[in-house]
Amino acid sequence: MVSWDLRSAGYGGAQVLHDIQLSVARGQVLALLGRNGAGKTTLLHTLFNLGPQSEGRIVLAGQDVQGWATHRVARMGAALVPQGRGVFADLTVAESLGMAAWWSGRKRRGEWTLERILSLFPRLQERRGSMCSALSGGERQMLALARALLTQPSLLVLDEPGEGLAPLAVEQVVAASVRMLRQAGVTIVMAEQDIALALAVATRVAVIDGGTLVFDGTPDTLRARQDVLQRHLGV
Ligand SMILES: Nc1ncnc2c1ncn2[C@@H]1O[C@H](COP(=O)(O)OP(=O)(O)OP(=O)(O)O)[C@@H](O)[C@H]1O
Ligand SMILES: [Mg+2]
Repeated sequence: MVSWDLRSAGYGGAQVLHDIQLSVARGQVLALLGRNGAGKTTLLHTLFNLGPQSEGRIVLAGQDVQGWATHRVARMGAALVPQGRGVFADLTVAESLGMAAWWSGRKRRGEWTLERILSLFPRLQERRGSMCSALSGGERQMLALARALLTQPSLLVLDEPGEGLAPLAVEQVVAASVRMLRQAGVTIVMAEQDIALALAVATRVAVIDGGTLVFDGTPDTLRARQDVLQRHLGV
């Protein structure tokens, strides 16, 4: 579904990522773990060409999209829920969803209809008249996911979806949503610092430290690797 084979990536003269080889098959949920500043966002953003310059290949759905404009990558079926869940304009939940539905409906129609999404996130239906700015962190995350799903993604990229959420919201919103989307067959790449969350929902885990991949395997294998957890994740 997506694979990175990068010699380097960085900003201006500063190299952040070094020799990254990572591939994610259709239907997998890959969690990318790493401490602050490890390079998680940089790696996700190379796919969307959102800031970092990269050298190498990034193959999405069979095409080398390295260097493509962001909107072309999106049109290939990749959707990003950015770290911090983006800023919400002064709209109600219904307006925000209506705008996303209208915008994506012009380009592609698909299985993720607004009705289906609202049936998965009934809380958004209840909150449809509320201003986005009045939503809780968990509700904002639901809204961000709903907006991304309206673009009919085959690959969903989530940048620290659990960040800043209360433990209950991490479980009830993030973990529950990822499990549900996994069952629906959506391929997911998620950056996380919450190791328990990553191990609970991912089918595969990669660990990045100092811009280098230091582990790539199953959640069970990582659980057993105290050395990796200690050295690269500070557990
Ligand atoms: N726009 C930028 N310009 C220059 N350097 C940047 C830029 N964005 C990130 N960096 C640097 O790149 C390195 C990796 O940052 P990145 O944001 O990818 O880390 P991260 O793993 O996502 O961290 P966090 O968990 O805190 O979000 C850091 O040293 C950071 O300072
Ligand atoms: Mg980040």
